[in-house]
Order: sequence, then C-alpha cells, then structure tokens
Amino acid sequence: MEQDTITIEELRRQFAEVFGDGGDARVYFAPGRVNLIGEHTDYNGGHVFPCALTIGTYAVARKRDDRKLRMYSVNFPQNGVIESSLDGLSYRAEDGWTNYVKGVLWAAAEQGYAADRGLDIMYCGTIPNSSGLSSSASIEVLTGEILRDMFGFDYDGITNALIGQRAENAFIGVNCGIMDQFAIAMGKKDHAIFLDTATLAYEYAPIAMDGVRIVIMNTNHKRGLGESKYNERRAECEEALAELQAAAAKATDAVAAQAAAIPSLGSLTEAEFEAMAGAIASPVRYRRARHAVYENRRTIRAVEALKNGDLAEFGQLMNASHVSLRDDYEVTGRELDTLVEAAWKVPGVIGARMTGAGFGGCAVCLVKEENVEQLIREVGETYGQTIGYPATFYVVEIGDGPGRLD
Ligand code: GLA
Repeated sequence: MEQDTITIEELRRQFAEVFGDGGDARVYFAPGRVNLIGEHTDYNGGHVFPCALTIGTYAVARKRDDRKLRMYSVNFPQNGVIESSLDGLSYRAEDGWTNYVKGVLWAAAEQGYAADRGLDIMYCGTIPNSSGLSSSASIEVLTGEILRDMFGFDYDGITNALIGQRAENAFIGVNCGIMDQFAIAMGKKDHAIFLDTATLAYEYAPIAMDGVRIVIMNTNHKRGLGESKYNERRAECEEALAELQAAAAKATDAVAAQAAAIPSLGSLTEAEFEAMAGAIASPVRYRRARHAVYENRRTIRAVEALKNGDLAEFGQLMNASHVSLRDDYEVTGRELDTLVEAAWKVPGVIGARMTGAGFGGCAVCLVKEENVEQLIREVGETYGQTIGYPATFYVVEIGDGPGRLD
C-alpha cells in the first residue's frame, strides 16, 4: 500500500528525470477495483457489484510536438522508455504493458476521439500486477481520462469505460466484460456500484459497514488473463445459451416459446433455467451456465440484503458465490480455495470469496474490525504451510473514480 507515500511532487520529479523538465506536465490517477459479488456474470448479461479502491495507477503526462508516444513505467524501470507512434498503432507482444495505452488510443480514435499529437507519459501503479484487482483496466481508464482532459474530448465516464473494454477485446484480445472498466471509470468513495451489464443501468450503494473492514487476500499466484481459461469459460456460456435458445425455438408450448427470446443467461431466474436446462447437452456447460444464472440472482439478493442492513445474509451469499465459482465454474484453484476456506474459519468473518477472473489473483473478505489481525495471522499461517509461499493482505478503502490531481 504505497499510495500514501506518493506525492505529486515526487511523481513530477521522476517524470523530469525520465523525460526532462516536467513543469507543464499534468498528474492523474485512476483506481483499481474489487468486486464484492457477481463474478463471471458481466459477459452473461447479469449484475455485478464492484467498487473502486484507493490504490490504483498514477500518471504524469505531457503533449509532444510530434506524433510519438513515449511511455515509461516506474513499476518496470528495466524496460526503460517504450516508444510508439500515433500512426499505425498495433499490438506487439514486446511492447508489454504499453499495449494497454496504445489500445486505448486506438479505440478512442475509432470512436472519433483521435489524439492529434503524441505524448510523453510516465505511469506508476500501486496495484499489485496480475492480482485480479484490475491493474490493466486501471491503466486503460487512466489513459482515457488523460486523453479526455488533454485533448478536450467530451466523453463521459461510461464512454471511457467502453473505450477501455473495446481496447481489451479488440486490441489486447481478451473478451472481458464491462465490469472492471466501469467500476474504475464510475467509482465513488464509500460506495459500491450495482450495475446491470445488460443495460448499463447502475445504482450506487453506500458501503457504510460500521466496525467491518474489507480485506483483500492475495494468493501471489500470478494470473495471466489472456493465457487463462477466461475466453474458454465465456465461450462455454455462449454455447449453453445457444443450446437453450435453439431448444426453445423448436418447442411449441408457451413457456418454451417465451424462452426462445432469452437474450442472455442473466435474464433467467433459477426456476426458468432449471425448467429448460435439459437442452444443454454437456454436464460441464450445464454447470457453467448454472453458475452464471445463480450468481446473477445471488448478486441481486445480496444488494437487497445490504439495503436492508442484513450484512450476515450478504456474507452468506459471498460464501455461496465462492462455492459456485469453485465447483460449477471451476476458476478458483488450490491457492484461492486455501485462502477462502481458511478465512471462513476465523471468528468475525462475515463472508469471503475469490474476486475477479480467478485462476489465482485475490480473494475478498468482510471481517469485523477487531478480528482483522487474527484473520491475517491465521489465514497467513495456513496458506504458507499449505502452499509453500506467503499470501499478502491489504486492508482497503473504497475510493473515487479517475481524475486529474494537480
Ligand atoms: C475479469 C474481467 C471482467 C469479469 C471478471 C469476472 O476481471 O475483466 O470483465 O468478467 O473477470 O467476473
């Protein structure tokens, strides 16, 4: 948690060291995110409930007189300054993290927001990489914010989020949903965002949990979204939906006919799904689709529980979410299961589950303030003994969306 120690002056100083005098450069920040519940529902037309964090990515940026892009990351000093041009923006594996920046410039231009001059940009992240806290979406939304501010583009936060998602889908090649970019672009201090990914209708829900803290538990097991089974899970869900739609289209009775119009797995209740699930030919696809349907309903119920002040119910739904991600969706793995199952045993834990794409990365836990230290100690011990290397714990705060800092 380095964010408290980074000052604007320090960022400017580092920028000047790399790019020369930073007097006219501007300083920006975009958060990371954690999802409280609603996992692998965003590309299934379901609901999610994430929030922005106070850890995230800082940037110092300045326009150039030519069309060059010169990018440097404080987190990857060994890579030095990576250079590209506004002309012929394309994905190149050897350009590493700067592909996220190029992807956003490319996607923004495609929407009619083309930068007409190059940039010198220095990035500095306080989100652990590959942790499932969306360091890449944070860079994307931050870049969208820099473009908006520096070139006077008039797009709003939702458009910025969509530009980031487009960059990820079409430039990077990960078929992610809208959750991460939306949570970051639309973040609000002390609030989680209840988002319907089918319509992008959203609502802020205050997370005022007196005496309860959000603890993120990092497996330190690196997760590469592109290499992972993420795209495969998405394809399995799409196939299951197509099977349901095809069966319903052939059926004659009224219930089935209605189902033929199913726009997404997220549009179904559990009962509607079970009534037609026989149409899904493979047991694996059935379980994938069952997760998507039940997780969406759990998310809706969890937000209701929170509104009613029923934190215990919210926690139970978080736990059920993990079980479903473990058994039906199979995206947890030994590291996440060890963390979460150890957390469930600690007194004062209200709920714990993996968060983000899974396959390593982080879990999120709601725990009573007086039990935070015990949680870190006991889960840390179990994890170290079982897995053979340590987990890391962060007691986090919910922060605002992106913006200029100076
Ligand atoms: C990643 C993706 C999101 C979402 C989650 C799983 O974070 O970027 O769009 O699908 O996984 O809920």
